[in-house]
Amino acid sequence: MKQILTAQDLRDWRSEQRDHGLKVAFVPTMGNLHEGHLSLVKAAQQQADRVIVSLFVNPTQFGVGEDFDTYPRTLDEDLDKLQEAKVDAVFTPAVGEVYPVYPPRVTVTAGAISGILCGRARPGHFDGVVTVVSKLFNLVEPDVACFGEKDYQQLSVIREMVADLNFNLKIHGVPTERAAYKLALSSRNSRLTPKERELAPELYKALTSVREQCLQGRMTIDQITRRASENLNQLGFTVDYLEVLSHDLTPVTPSSRKLIVLIAAKLGSVRLIDNLQFDR
Ligand code: PAJ
Repeated sequence: MKQILTAQDLRDWRSEQRDHGLKVAFVPTMGNLHEGHLSLVKAAQQQADRVIVSLFVNPTQFGVGEDFDTYPRTLDEDLDKLQEAKVDAVFTPAVGEVYPVYPPRVTVTAGAISGILCGRARPGHFDGVVTVVSKLFNLVEPDVACFGEKDYQQLSVIREMVADLNFNLKIHGVPTERAAYKLALSSRNSRLTPKERELAPELYKALTSVREQCLQGRMTIDQITRRASENLNQLGFTVDYLEVLSHDLTPVTPSSRKLIVLIAAKLGSVRLIDNLQFDR
């Protein structure tokens, strides 16, 4: 596995692959890798001849008072995991390689769907995400890039960016990887106390229960989500949102067939997100 530190070395590596006619798949991450990230790597390996992963904690997607400084940075362990997963190259840039000028003078603005759900609690977050992802796409020039459905709103915002800004690559969405007790894997799970960890599976239970009740159709969607949030709050969560939307993140209409229930809730200091897609 080749470790690449600079934008210039990355361009050189990329043109070598192109010279050999090899297709490149890209997996952008912020490191502190777990099986969820590694499932993206596996999906990427099925999509192309070569796989490159980036490990970069992007400062512009963290708000004031968010966990940029304390975000877990575990470079050596991450490199071992990627080596074992037979990744071809890993890009581990310093901030200056990705942001020649910091703060950047020119940025990308995410579309209207960035203002709902997680975007409401984290203003500017998705602008930071689309800014860094467009930079990484320009640096790596991948044929395909893999993103997790766990961050469904992020995946949607990136799909819109690729369509609206004419990026020449395919976005491949990968299903959420979960622990045995169904909690979606996340770098932030390691900060749960043992007691919080016991409670955490209730989040996924709430999603499946909302899905079942929506399919039964005995209550309105509003009634269903309100009850489920109240229940979680009583258990000790602080629910930020629990919403059922159409799969394109627009409000549900009588003709919506593909739905998604999305949740964000805090357990202690840890903000967990999850979602479940279903058809009706
Ligand atoms: P990060 O949180 O490190 O996640 C990197 C990728 O892993 C994202 O596409 C995310 O959806 C995916 N992922 C995380 N947990 C997963 C799970 N349990 N199952 C499947 N996929 C999972 O998301 C980011 O980094 C950043 O915002 C980034 C896109 C790298 C831009 O900075």
